[in-house]
Amino acid sequence: MRYRKLGSSELEVSEISLGSWLTYSGGVEADKTRACTEAAFDAGINFFDTANVYGQGAAETAWGDILSSRPRDSYILATKVYFPMSEDPADQGLSPAQIAKQIDASLTRLKTDYVDLYQAHRFDPTVPVEDIVEAFQKVVQQGKARYIGFSEWSPEQIEAAIDIAGPDLFVSSQPQYSMLWQAPEAEVFGLCSANGISQIVWSPLAQGVLTGKYKPGQPVPEGSRFASAEMAVSKDLVYSDATLQAVQRLVPIAEEAGMSMPTLALAWVLRRGEVASAITGASRPEQVHANAAASGVELSGDLLAAVDQALGDVPVTEPTPAPGAQPGVKHR
Ligand SMILES: NC(=O)c1ccc[n+]([C@@H]2O[C@H](COP(=O)([O-])OP(=O)(O)OC[C@H]3O[C@@H](n4cnc5c(N)ncnc54)[C@H](OP(=O)(O)O)[C@@H]3O)[C@@H](O)[C@H]2O)c1
Repeated sequence: MRYRKLGSSELEVSEISLGSWLTYSGGVEADKTRACTEAAFDAGINFFDTANVYGQGAAETAWGDILSSRPRDSYILATKVYFPMSEDPADQGLSPAQIAKQIDASLTRLKTDYVDLYQAHRFDPTVPVEDIVEAFQKVVQQGKARYIGFSEWSPEQIEAAIDIAGPDLFVSSQPQYSMLWQAPEAEVFGLCSANGISQIVWSPLAQGVLTGKYKPGQPVPEGSRFASAEMAVSKDLVYSDATLQAVQRLVPIAEEAGMSMPTLALAWVLRRGEVASAITGASRPEQVHANAAASGVELSGDLLAAVDQALGDVPVTEPTPAPGAQPGVKHR
């Protein structure tokens, strides 16, 4: 496993990291959650990404139980705040009171005194950006987080926050980024780079679609993420047969290059120096090992051109899964 510096921080994160959305919040059983997490350590993964909202705290609790038996400095832990945590309308967003309350709740569930990275899961336009920045600065001053990041902020929101915070507060940006969702390259990558902020990208396998296992016109493989009725609807909404056909055109390209489809997809996002880590999900430990193998794999110019050609003008749609696909899980 190779490691990359996370923005202007002192953190060196593994190129492949492990996230817990839709998996370790209940979708994947406790023993498999433990096995996937152990597999991550075995593979050299040191970076773990969760959020308060994943399973309304359940994902943080699961990792709190597992990770707290390891030395705290043997892993880099990231969580997030923003999405609603209860029916109470005040229990969401980025108000100073909510950030102060949610960081404490996350630390309790994660069984640790600090997270390495605390991220705004989205921007909150209802709170003055000065107040958001000050609230995150306070979390750092209190020693509850070492660094701050954000997820899916627009270039304008990023600029507004940096104008107030200066160059030192934010070290990471977490956008969706994959062969099937390339939008952040246009503006977010450059702006962040110029300000010492790395990308840590989510759904780099397009939720498994880029492994090639979903074949156009064929039944969804049993036990896969899109096999449940609600997630199948979500897949149909965002991944058309044309997209699945384009993914199938990548299969011979990967084969010819002697690499697996997950390796091709993950090495593709890591080809960009702005990306510090590809945050993968895994429902089984074998997937963790398969995905970790992408670290250090270089893609030639010819290979990248072949990928572009294979993708063609594939319709790229932001794949936002349907809400309610798993009980108690917010699909974000
Ligand atoms: N900031 C945000 O708003 C946001 C949003 C979404 C996600 N995230 C973060 O990003 C992380 C990753 O998201 P994601 O889970 O959608 O990522 P992903 O890596 O694109 O998809 C992961 C899923 O693909 C399947 N898979 C993974 N490796 C495979 C392999 N080698 N072979 C076959 N299938 C494989 C597994 O599902 P099955 O085995 O069930 O098919 C796995 O759960 C999340 O856990 C979270 O930390 C952040």
